[in-house]
Amino acid sequence: MYDLVFRSARVVTPDRVILGDLGVTGERISAIGPNLGPGKEEVDATGKLLFPGFIDAHVHLGVPIRGMESVDGVTEGSRAAAFGGVTTLIDFTVQDHGESLLDSFHRRIERMKGAAHVDVALHANFTNFTEENLAQIPDVLAAGAAGIKIFTAYREAGMQLSDRQILRVAEKVGEAGGLLMCHAENGDAADYLAERLAAKGRRDAAAHGESRPDLLEAEAIFRVATLARIANCPLYVVHLSSARGLETIRRLRADEWKIFAETCPQYLLLNRSRYEGENGHRYIASPPLREPFDGVRLLDAVLGDEIEVVATDHCPFSTAQKLAGGGDFLATPNGIGGVETLLPLMFTRLLSLGENGLEPKHNAGLLRLVRVLAENPARIFGLAPRKGAIKEDADADLVLYDPAPTRVLTAAEMHGGSDWDPYEGMEVRGVVDSVWLRGKQVVDSERLMGKQVDGEFLSAMPTSARTPAA
Ligand code: URP
Ligand code: ZN
Ligand code: ZN
Repeated sequence: MYDLVFRSARVVTPDRVILGDLGVTGERISAIGPNLGPGKEEVDATGKLLFPGFIDAHVHLGVPIRGMESVDGVTEGSRAAAFGGVTTLIDFTVQDHGESLLDSFHRRIERMKGAAHVDVALHANFTNFTEENLAQIPDVLAAGAAGIKIFTAYREAGMQLSDRQILRVAEKVGEAGGLLMCHAENGDAADYLAERLAAKGRRDAAAHGESRPDLLEAEAIFRVATLARIANCPLYVVHLSSARGLETIRRLRADEWKIFAETCPQYLLLNRSRYEGENGHRYIASPPLREPFDGVRLLDAVLGDEIEVVATDHCPFSTAQKLAGGGDFLATPNGIGGVETLLPLMFTRLLSLGENGLEPKHNAGLLRLVRVLAENPARIFGLAPRKGAIKEDADADLVLYDPAPTRVLTAAEMHGGSDWDPYEGMEVRGVVDSVWLRGKQVVDSERLMGKQVDGEFLSAMPTSARTPAA
């Protein structure tokens, strides 16, 4: 007898959608097929989609930016994730001034213990360049870091590395078999452009966008990819925001260099018009929102397998925090939220592209959805085969999704700590019915069933043991 059986679901596996049952034994998926035997608990999933628990590979939980801490700490962010069908988060360490790479990693793990509603893995930010920290790269990878991230911006926050430092980090990450991640914007140029705008009296939100043009993203991608290539180190570009950045990645790939690319819902669905009006400062994030055509190109690249991962860069600040600087873009903390809306937004977007997601024969959109939100991040970041796919022996992280209703997103219905939502008023298709984490139900419709001790730290496998992205 199974512990749990889902009956008559449309089960979304990596390569097809199966109409049938799914059995869970303990914390694992133990069978998928028609007419499975009885379960101690049975869920009638008729008419619903059964997805693997989704992975948000880029979140910042309780991160300090410009003297303020983002409102979703581990507990709030993971609660919002659970309601959104995201059962694995990959957070980033924050290296305090003078703190070693390993200490920052272990401190972050301690911080999540007993605080997370879903499982959490970690990327290690490398922001304090010292020989000691360089030497600790193999250790932090051995301790389970999913990626090592560097920044080409945020000099004022002490996070930006020089080209020489990036090359040295890339060499070390490459030697240790790790994956280098990069926030790619030419920070020095952006800082200068921001000062120039400010000197002309521009403090408005649109000036934030103007100070960080797409050319600066394309330049930084090219530069870091060049350094990574010299160092023989694979590269993952986070939050790709522009068609120009995408073109740069295409050119580099044509030259046979392996680069993974991630984009976020805000770059697919929002554009720089959000900076206009009284709420413009809320949308300040880096890279900034772009032109509508950038979103169109990026979406094409998601559909065409050129962008492997969609993640949120979840980093919400409240309206009060966003306005604490008096409407000065230079004093506004960067970042917006999105973990709870990732699934409904991407479901709606991918399934509205000439396909009827309710018809079993039109499943390309569903398969694309699980690829970029589950399978690819699990493989790239060493969480597969436990995470990222519905298959036997995988963790029973499962999301039952009702594709029929349409609803309008509103901040009042969200479960994180923010008082506003970037996607307020957008209509989406479908609703998360219920969510299971390793066989335990954590969300039932609008009710939280899980506890903040349910989430575990996930140690990522070394890159040598990772399977390539699908
Ligand atoms: O503005 C953003 N994206 N804030 C979070 C930190 C980062 O750069 O990813
Ligand atoms: Zn970033
Ligand atoms: Zn980020």
